[in-house]
Amino acid sequence: MSAELAGFVHNYLPGERDGSGITLLLLHGTGGNEDDLIPLGKQLLPDAAILSPRGKVSEHGAPRFFRRLAEGVFDHEDLLFRTHELAAFVGQAADEYGFDRRKLVAVGYSNGANIAASLMLLHPDLLRAAVLFRAMVPFEPEETPDLTGMPVFLAAGRRDTMIPPDNTERLAGILQEAGADLDLRWKNVGHPLTYEELEEARGWISETLPKLS
Ligand code: MLT
Repeated sequence: MSAELAGFVHNYLPGERDGSGITLLLLHGTGGNEDDLIPLGKQLLPDAAILSPRGKVSEHGAPRFFRRLAEGVFDHEDLLFRTHELAAFVGQAADEYGFDRRKLVAVGYSNGANIAASLMLLHPDLLRAAVLFRAMVPFEPEETPDLTGMPVFLAAGRRDTMIPPDNTERLAGILQEAGADLDLRWKNVGHPLTYEELEEARGWISETLPKLS
């Protein structure tokens, strides 16, 4: 059942005792909510705890994590504000639920992947790793953050009409310049996620995350 903390409606599900100790921060796409990605999180890493907030911005009733002026054109000021607000919520949730904040892994889709990327640029120490489905550049950072060695899985569709491929390539460039250990996977697909990509993300997680100390 959803709870509220720092104004964020969210779900928190504890992980398995003696499991990986990882908490997945699930970030939904436009029009989603705190329930949407839970089955995906369970599929990706069944023993992990789950923290799944609902975006606070409403676009004609569709929840989002930050405002946009048009499709793919972001309200920069709101994006920065919402990113800091989400980071603060995550810290409060760690205190409230007692999960290990050094083992927080973001899993975002579309708008949720974009705010996850924004968290990485503005709060480079918050996340331990990230799985980004259909992400684009949230903003051009003035300074390159230090993401040395951070594992990032980025799944992109060549036929995605919402996220232009060259924009995803630019995001990949920013993350690599920041030192992230990026695994960029292109598929000949559109915006919706495919089963094959979920399986690839699952494989990447089981290869990569157990190596996190
Ligand atoms: C965004 O607004 O974050 C992107 O255009 C993707 C989306 O609509 O969710």
